Amino acid sequence: MRITSLRGRFLLSILLWVALGIGAIWYSSVRLFTTHVEDQYHEELEVHVRELGGLAELDAQGRPHLTRPLSDPRYAQPLSGFYWQITRPQFGELKSPSMTQGELDDDIAHSPRILHRVENGPTGPTIVYGFLRDAPGGPPIHFVIATDERHLQHIISAFTRELTVWLMLLALALLASGVAIITLGFRPFNRLSAAIDALRKGEQRRIGGTYPDEIQAIVTDLNAYVDRNAEIVERGRVEASSLAHSLRTPLAVVTDEAELLLEAGQGDAARVFLDQSSRMQRQIDYHLARVRSGGSKAGVPPRARLDDVVPPLLDAMRRCHPAKSFSAQYPPGLSVPMDADDLSETLSNLLDNAGKWARAEVWIDASARDGMHRIEVHDDGPGIPHDQRQTVFEIGHSKDLDSIDGESSAAANPGSGLGLSISRAIARDYGGDLTLADATGGGLRAIVSLP
Ligand SMILES: Nc1ncnc2c1ncn2[C@@H]1O[C@H](COP(=O)(O)OP(=O)(O)OP(=O)(O)O)[C@@H](O)[C@H]1O
Ligand SMILES: [Mg+2]
Repeated sequence: MRITSLRGRFLLSILLWVALGIGAIWYSSVRLFTTHVEDQYHEELEVHVRELGGLAELDAQGRPHLTRPLSDPRYAQPLSGFYWQITRPQFGELKSPSMTQGELDDDIAHSPRILHRVENGPTGPTIVYGFLRDAPGGPPIHFVIATDERHLQHIISAFTRELTVWLMLLALALLASGVAIITLGFRPFNRLSAAIDALRKGEQRRIGGTYPDEIQAIVTDLNAYVDRNAEIVERGRVEASSLAHSLRTPLAVVTDEAELLLEAGQGDAARVFLDQSSRMQRQIDYHLARVRSGGSKAGVPPRARLDDVVPPLLDAMRRCHPAKSFSAQYPPGLSVPMDADDLSETLSNLLDNAGKWARAEVWIDASARDGMHRIEVHDDGPGIPHDQRQTVFEIGHSKDLDSIDGESSAAANPGSGLGLSISRAIARDYGGDLTLADATGGGLRAIVSLP
């Protein structure tokens, strides 16, 4: 999928949108949760340090002691990460049972206001809370309570881990639904593209089916355009053939007049008239044949089966050229992407030429390979010299009249030099071509190739 395709662009936008959205949710959730947990933690520690202050008393010697243990049992568990310490300089020091090693800095606060900071404690970095209370007849008492920072970090990282997994799943679900929406949304476009393809190949005359409103408007316009185009082409064909037909009669009159002039002894002028008239006639015949060709028709069935077209042609050729043998060889059921009438016109021109020029045999060989259809018409006649293989395609170029071989059917039945040019023009209408090559053992091989 390329970025220039609409599908690619939508997918990229969804990808960016999901990444940005999920990233923002992840970041803000972690921030909010961390602040919330930290606040709660600090509040709890403050409560604990207050409780510690409330439970401490001085004995008769001025040494601090607790009236009862702290309510949170974690202060009694060795190295639990929850510690307290009461210090009265020169009068002694009290530590929580959990603090079996190390010591807390009692100098954290210098007033009754509770202060906190992060310190190195008995089991790693700790959040320490402390305050100071004046005591009668001596130095003040320092109260310190501490919790390992790792407890807080542990809660935050467990939350972050779980959140990350859930958000990843959410992102995947969002991406999958995005892809599904794009696929569904583009289905009408796929159908439209198939319909336009069928239209182009001539399988359909119009774009059928119902589409979502936005596309239906385009389909309606396209159909109107197709109808209008077909109408213009049809009108052009009718105009061209009526022009050709309307020229026939005046041309026949001119030819008759020229022949009268020739009889009256005005040879030079008459020959110019006759020559030009026959050129006009050839041009008219050529263009009439082109107008009849289905290649320019809209909505023609695209395939012709050789089984339907070739046998009747061979029969007709055997009647026209009774002295020659005609045969064909091709895979059964082979069809070519061409209108049947056009295929018939093309092959009959080639078979007629081959029939005129062959010594004894004409054969058709057809195949479809690598996306290319080839129909070859072979004969065992004299062939066409390489340097003439372009000129024979010119309209009106016929060698028949120059033929000195009086016995050849070409000489007996002179052509007008249109067959090859018409056949090549039809093949090119279908994106193919007509080329000439040597047949095996001499003779000509005319090759119609169609993609
Ligand atoms: N199979 C062939 N063998 C030898 N020469 C050929 C063969 N096919 C065509 N030619 C030469 O090419 C010329 C042009 O052929 P083309 O079919 O265009 O015209 P035509 O056969 O003379 O007239 P038309 O087909 O209009 O009746 C022919 O006059 C002939 O000289
Ligand atoms: Mg011919």
